[in-house]
Amino acid sequence: MRFRTLMAGLVAATFSLAAFAQQPIVIKFSHVVAHDTPKGLAAEFFKKRAEELTKGRVKVEVYANSTLYKDKEEMEALQLGAVQMLAPSLAKFGPLGVKEFEVFDLPYLFDNYAELHKVTQGPVGQQLLNKLDAKGIHGLAFWDNGFKSFSANTPIRMPADLKGKKLRIQSSKVLEEEVRALGGLPQVMAFSEVYQALQTGVVDGTENPISNLYTQKMYEVQKYLTLTDHGYLGYAVIVNKKFWDGLPSDVRGQLETAMKEATAYANKIAEEQNLRDLEAVKKSGKTVVYVPTKEERMAFKKALIPVHQKMESRIGADLIHEIYKEIGFNPNI
Ligand code: LMR
Repeated sequence: MRFRTLMAGLVAATFSLAAFAQQPIVIKFSHVVAHDTPKGLAAEFFKKRAEELTKGRVKVEVYANSTLYKDKEEMEALQLGAVQMLAPSLAKFGPLGVKEFEVFDLPYLFDNYAELHKVTQGPVGQQLLNKLDAKGIHGLAFWDNGFKSFSANTPIRMPADLKGKKLRIQSSKVLEEEVRALGGLPQVMAFSEVYQALQTGVVDGTENPISNLYTQKMYEVQKYLTLTDHGYLGYAVIVNKKFWDGLPSDVRGQLETAMKEATAYANKIAEEQNLRDLEAVKKSGKTVVYVPTKEERMAFKKALIPVHQKMESRIGADLIHEIYKEIGFNPNI
């Protein structure tokens, strides 16, 4: 009798072990933007390919629109292992202690996606991702969004039009300095709170790539949008390092392939999505879209490029100059 009980127990244990072995590895991927954005769509693409390539051994759960965590909490959750994957904007790595990522926030540094890719897809980008390891985070890839424009409830033609305006920014010291250089008042705020802050007048304006302005419906509460394209907003896809290193190596390889494909997809659709959303904003009739003249654009550049030098001590003069060289940027306009 005792033997039979023992055997029954053993069989049950074997079954539950087998069941356990078949449990998929779950990757919780949290982000703050809408589904229908470059990042939202790329996250879904990654999910699909990761699940296909691993034949279901990995299950990716995507939580969009800050439904799981907001900006600041998501970084903490990743480090604690409560989520496994994020794609925060490069402007949000300062609080982690990796200030170098703020180099991407320098106004007018990149003129187009091709210049940017020289950095994000080259050795400088890799060096930056490697810096995350010391924080218990592994950097997998850079994903594009696009170039930011200023919006407000009053027309924006010249830098002086933003003087005294309260402008919502992401948590980057470079962006803080950017707004100060225009005589504005920077207000750091989580992305999920921006619509309401604009609606209630807690802030007067903000800066966004058009896809974010449109999908968060900010255009409903911003009468004027000026296509300044004064800075870049993109993402680093990151994972909890302990989780990543602990994956079976074949699974890790399959996920790397899925990420490579998702990165190519993200960077292919980003520009299209932003252009599509710009048309949608125009069509809404709620926001006046203004294209600055050559002179007005130059005035913004003159006001904002000095931010580069001011931020050298924070980001590192060497890194800034390495990027200047890589993309052929001349700060003396
Ligand atoms: C923002 O806070 O404005 C952006 O970082 C949101 C995002 O993830 O694109």
